[in-house]
Amino acid sequence: MLKSSKIILKKTNNEKYPFGIILGSGIKNFFEKKEIKFSISYKNLPEFPKPTIKGHSGKIVFGSVYKKKIACLYGRSHIYEGHTPNKLANPIRVLKEIGCQTLVITNAAGSLNKKMSSGSLMLISDHINWSGFNPLIGPNDDNYGTRFPDMSDAYNLDLRQKMHKASKIGKIPLYKGVYTMYSGPNFETPAEIKALRVIGGDAVGMSTVPEVIVANHCGIKTVAISLITNFAAGLSKNKLSHEETLREAQKGEKNIVKLIKIFLNLLK
Ligand code: HPA
Repeated sequence: MLKSSKIILKKTNNEKYPFGIILGSGIKNFFEKKEIKFSISYKNLPEFPKPTIKGHSGKIVFGSVYKKKIACLYGRSHIYEGHTPNKLANPIRVLKEIGCQTLVITNAAGSLNKKMSSGSLMLISDHINWSGFNPLIGPNDDNYGTRFPDMSDAYNLDLRQKMHKASKIGKIPLYKGVYTMYSGPNFETPAEIKALRVIGGDAVGMSTVPEVIVANHCGIKTVAISLITNFAAGLSKNKLSHEETLREAQKGEKNIVKLIKIFLNLLK
């Protein structure tokens, strides 16, 4: 067991947290104050990579919504920050070791579809890993999972159906599509975006895929939502910037948080 997991379980008195959530760029809060029990800075969790960019606060917040115990990562790390592959696996493995069975991942993403503008939510049905990176590269740790994990239900069908149901209940429009991952840190070129559209992408971003791979490897059921913050390069005349990503993600925060809370209420 990772040291970080032991530190957390000591603090929770061995109480397990069956639900995990990861907040994407610019999404600052999931919990209301009254829902929070306590939080731990990544600085106090030895195996956690420390986020280095604006819009990622770097703490794990423990709380309850609809009596579901949730460990929520406020801020994540990305490949482009220079972390080694298995370092990016650690936060997910810690979630597993503290009891996570269901994981909801969020991200900010560019749209490859002219109908899906900024502020739209897209439920990820599948991904294309175009990052040239895989967090499972290196010796396999059999304690977590098999050498060659299956990815045919990486975005769990039952959880996706429940997320669609939640969108109907909350009257929150929800697109569905394929997420393509690019390593960053530069935004893609218009030619790269053209290529991603041709191979079947609907949105593009620089995160999520490593986490989904590691979660599937260790048997956590996963569902993921992109919050669209811009049209991808070449699809509009605007210049892309991280400031725009953060600003537009902030605008969509309320909606995505509401959707996830309705979704949680539908789970057993
Ligand atoms: N490309 C990659 N990552 C992103 C984008 C984008 O256009 N928007 C937000 N994150």
